[in-house]
Amino acid sequence: MSEERYLTFALGKGRLAEQTLSLLEKIGITCEEMKDKRSRRLIFVNEERKMKFFLSKGSDVPTYVEYGAADIGVAGRDTILEENRRVYEVLDLGFGKCRMCVCGPQSAGELLLHHERIRVASKYPVIARDYFYNQKHQTVDIIRLNGSVELGPIVGLSDVIVDIVETGSTLRENGLMVLEEICPLSARMIVNQVSMQMQTERIRSLIAQIREQQKGTGIR
Ligand code: PRP
Repeated sequence: MSEERYLTFALGKGRLAEQTLSLLEKIGITCEEMKDKRSRRLIFVNEERKMKFFLSKGSDVPTYVEYGAADIGVAGRDTILEENRRVYEVLDLGFGKCRMCVCGPQSAGELLLHHERIRVASKYPVIARDYFYNQKHQTVDIIRLNGSVELGPIVGLSDVIVDIVETGSTLRENGLMVLEEICPLSARMIVNQVSMQMQTERIRSLIAQIREQQKGTGIR
């Protein structure tokens, strides 16, 4: 039996954290103090279950988990791929589903077919580089942006973008479309590699409980 130390969770602030907490609640893990939206506290404790939860910027979750500041994290697959940290990805949580795509005006479709040296704007330069260089074998110039990436082709900064598409409405409203799909995305549970060895039973049991809950709701 592993010793009962705190198991620490890093959750990306916002919708992902809310959905994670509601999933944990369904398997009997609650953290009442986290529900107070006015609170500015960053760390919350469930004494009974010996669990701690903290809220960080989503893109920092894999960093906390790699260094062991958190045993477990929940982050989008986009963040996990982009950060490329040494962590175990153990579970698809089934929410936060969307797609990573190459998007642009219809006319840019041609540029993708002929391996032209084009400009690609993205919040995800690692994913964009991997896709174009390693999968498509197309040399491109990657331009890193921090948000509202759809502006890229509209204002003439780039030919295409690599970005998340959820409902597709941002693209539609800006006269852009999906040109190629890179990969599907959803929220994933990640685990620190040492924690996985030292806290195997607790972590495995947590994963099993979530899987069981997912079966009941039809989420795989
Ligand atoms: C994300 C993404 C797209 C949009 C896609 O942006 O970068 O812009 O959502 O969603 P849709 O397909 O449902 O329209 P976010 O809202 O995170 O803001 P940002 O552009 O400032 O990063």
